[in-house]
Amino acid sequence: MTLKIACIGAGYVGGPTMAMIAHKCKDIEVTVLDINEERIAAWNSDRLPIYEPGLEEVVFACRGKTLFFSTECEKKVAEADVVFISVNTPTKTRGVGAGYAADMTYWEGAARMIAKVSHSPKIIVEKSTVPVKTAQAVERVLSNNVLNDGARFDILSNPEFLAEGTAIKDLENPDRVIIGGRQTPSGLKAIQTLKDVYAQWVPEEQILTSNLWSSELAKLAANAFLAQRISSINSISALCEKTGADVSEIAKCIGADSRIGPKFLNASVGFGGSCFQKDILNMVYICRGLGLQEIARYWESVVTINNLQKRRFVDIVISSLFNTVRGKKIAILGFAFKKDTGDTRETPAIDVCNGLLDEGANLAVYDPQVTEERMKTDLSLDKFEWDHPYTQRKAKEVDDHIECCDSVYKACEGAHAVCILTEWDEFKTLDLKKIYDSMVKPAFIFDGRNVVDGKHAKEVGFVFYGLGKPLDPFLTDPSSPCSP
Ligand code: NAI
Repeated sequence: MTLKIACIGAGYVGGPTMAMIAHKCKDIEVTVLDINEERIAAWNSDRLPIYEPGLEEVVFACRGKTLFFSTECEKKVAEADVVFISVNTPTKTRGVGAGYAADMTYWEGAARMIAKVSHSPKIIVEKSTVPVKTAQAVERVLSNNVLNDGARFDILSNPEFLAEGTAIKDLENPDRVIIGGRQTPSGLKAIQTLKDVYAQWVPEEQILTSNLWSSELAKLAANAFLAQRISSINSISALCEKTGADVSEIAKCIGADSRIGPKFLNASVGFGGSCFQKDILNMVYICRGLGLQEIARYWESVVTINNLQKRRFVDIVISSLFNTVRGKKIAILGFAFKKDTGDTRETPAIDVCNGLLDEGANLAVYDPQVTEERMKTDLSLDKFEWDHPYTQRKAKEVDDHIECCDSVYKACEGAHAVCILTEWDEFKTLDLKKIYDSMVKPAFIFDGRNVVDGKHAKEVGFVFYGLGKPLDPFLTDPSSPCSP
């Protein structure tokens, strides 16, 4: 009998993960579900709703054969043997825990729907990142709302570790897969069923099994460690700029220590994406609730350093441009939170652009994957307000001061400064001379991702800021006593 999998949530995680299962397991029928009709229509079209290298090939190869996208949520869940829940779990915007706790509204809605329509045993898989102990809440929602005889549920935790921009590579060749479940006969049988799915392409020793709570917490802990590493190197970048040390040289040196390792040591204008900040703040909230105040403060400092990094960048732009950017055109290269994705959730570009807009700058933005509508919406929303309609006043201000350009060179023409905020490969090979010639002098580059060759930029004539690099004497350190 063909195993039937349904996945609730056709987003950045649900779409690619299910496409990979369908691609690798010809004996499984996979249906990805969403309440968002537009999103499902896009998954069924030639232009998929998210950009990921390699995703089209995988989807187009199995769509309509073993992979389906549908809005018939109740029907497909009722028919499934295994139901993944991959809905969004954003930070709460209001009420108790606002700004920290995960908003479980979508999650609970999905669980209640499963209870209502199920009339056969099912394995429910937590794919979303959730607070530790969520499985217990799901079990209670399900067991208290079952309407049909024959429905019975085993809950598994199987968090996703893919990174946007490399999702297909990560799914095809994961460092590990973790499956947590109850250590009861039926829980262990459910773990084995899911293990058999992954084992069709993932080496067995890389499929880890655990109890439910370890699996749930492992995801939060992994994101906290990754973000902590970025904040650690970013904190060193601030120290470098004050001392004449070079953060890239330091990263190379400390990364050569096999106990530290070389990955994830690139200093930058800050981490972004929908997960790091959300998951750390959620962990902070959980720690506080458990009376672990010092532990909460320790992890919260990772987010504090990240916010400081974005502020530091804005401050040095303003102070170097003679303490005023009012009415000046500034080119923003890159808006996505990292290269090879069109995702802008929590991108540092939002905070940097807002910091410059607050000072009256005019921004010309170029990003190869982000639409004008997306940028303008992001800049019109208050922090944590992405699910609310934005105010007309802010939208008008954004419209008046943001120009979205279809090329780097157009964005830079007539600009006083260029800020590089995403590490797109095309920014490594820019024609700096052409850009310099088209700009107001003195022309500045503020490289928030260290993608440009600073030596070459200076030879061309630019005043150049590389994040965490020794400061060019023509730059003005905002905290220096000599700052104008
Ligand atoms: P997303 O926002 O892109 O997708 C979630 C989808 O769920 C949306 O399309 C929404 O319409 C749908 N949805 C919500 N409630 C629904 C319901 N009741 N029935 C049907 N569809 C419903 O979110 P994304 O990025 O895919 O994240 C999902 C989860 O995975 C989150 O918990 C996130 O923390 C986690 N995660 C995300 C990663 C990423 O790189 N984006 C990586 C690893 C985990």
